[in-house]
Amino acid sequence: MTTDLRARTALELLRARRRSIALTEAVDDGDLVRQHSPLMSPLVWDLAHIGNQEELWLVRDVGGREPVRVDIDKFYDAFRHARADRPALPLLGPGEARSYVGTVRDKVLDILDTVPLEGRRLVRQGFAFGMIVQHEQQHDETMLATHQLRAGEPVLAAPPPPPAAVDVYGEVLIPGGPFTMGTSTERWALDNERPAHIVDVPAFFIDAGPVTNARYAEFVDDGGYLDRRWWSERGWRHRAESDLRGPMHWHGDGTRTHFGHRGPIEPDAPVVHVCFHEAEAYARWAGRRLPTEAEWEKAARHDPVAGRSRRYPWGDADPGEWHANLGQRHLRPAPVGAYPDGASPLGVHQLIGDVWEWTSTDFHGYPGFVSFPYREYSEVFFGGDYKVLRGGSFGTDAAACRGTFRNWDLPVRRQIFSGFRLARDPRPGEAG
Ligand code: AVJ
Ligand code: FE
Repeated sequence: MTTDLRARTALELLRARRRSIALTEAVDDGDLVRQHSPLMSPLVWDLAHIGNQEELWLVRDVGGREPVRVDIDKFYDAFRHARADRPALPLLGPGEARSYVGTVRDKVLDILDTVPLEGRRLVRQGFAFGMIVQHEQQHDETMLATHQLRAGEPVLAAPPPPPAAVDVYGEVLIPGGPFTMGTSTERWALDNERPAHIVDVPAFFIDAGPVTNARYAEFVDDGGYLDRRWWSERGWRHRAESDLRGPMHWHGDGTRTHFGHRGPIEPDAPVVHVCFHEAEAYARWAGRRLPTEAEWEKAARHDPVAGRSRRYPWGDADPGEWHANLGQRHLRPAPVGAYPDGASPLGVHQLIGDVWEWTSTDFHGYPGFVSFPYREYSEVFFGGDYKVLRGGSFGTDAAACRGTFRNWDLPVRRQIFSGFRLARDPRPGEAG
């Protein structure tokens, strides 16, 4: 009965590992141990940390086996050492890290073959394995962001994203009323996505597509970065301290760099590498606002005909390559209009994939939240200075992306693949 689940889980573990290997084999050993930015760990830290989490949860806890390396736990605990301090630790070298993650994985595949996938909540429906798949894919996206910060010749290659197939412009009215936010049934949903609960969301307008580079450039060219009217007090202070003048990786001459390739900014693609403060300033300049997290999820999941929430904007099917720009198949966001098959029933495009979208909501637990299986995944971040991002980027794998998936980061962060879309309240009489 669980043969299919085991086989599919093994395949997901394999896909994640193929990606981790590709990201770490793309550079030489010197590059693997180097810190490319104080914001990021050396790639070799991410690799061994992936293996260490897998050892803790799947080898020791689920499998009940002897530890592989108890002595290294402390170096790979993300809470013990800030990213900037990780290069100074006695980390496993590239060869040791590769052999460590391989040893752990061999044990895990054996455990996956034999352990019951029912009973204990941690293993029911393969949850612990799914959690570890998502953890590896999340660190793969983090490693991809490290690649983007790395100086030097390009080492990653991928075909360009598909061109726009339809014109996508303007805004969509999402009617007011209750919808189901979060999930209690999605088998690999993480604790912060649970439980499903009803939220009454008043009518609002949301843009059919994310804000494009061309639109964002208008804000830059209009002196948006020099006009404090558009910025929050904190945002303005941050802009000044960090001397922000445009999105990260733009050069101020109409070009940008993606993974070592310098080229013209793609006008019709979603803007990427902007922080929350920039997104908020742009919205104010445009006379609009960012969507709340509940608005974003209602736009992405609410089926107005069936009156229920779906897993994705296009329905309940897992993402196919025709639905969304996910999984590092392309190394940048696709132009708006490239994924008509991924649109929501009301015509909102590219909610999933391309760029993480900033929302105006602070990261918190849903009503009835229970941390599972560990507080350090989500709960310790609740009530901190974190804004929620939704929808995943071109660098997010489908295994770690769905209509309920929640990401979060500090409002100043922009080394992640972050963009945004705009929303607004209806004017009197507009919402019917
Ligand atoms: C959910 C992306 C914010 O990378 O900090 C990785 C995911 N948690 N290891 C992060 C995570 C523990 C997390 N984010
Ligand atoms: Fe981690």
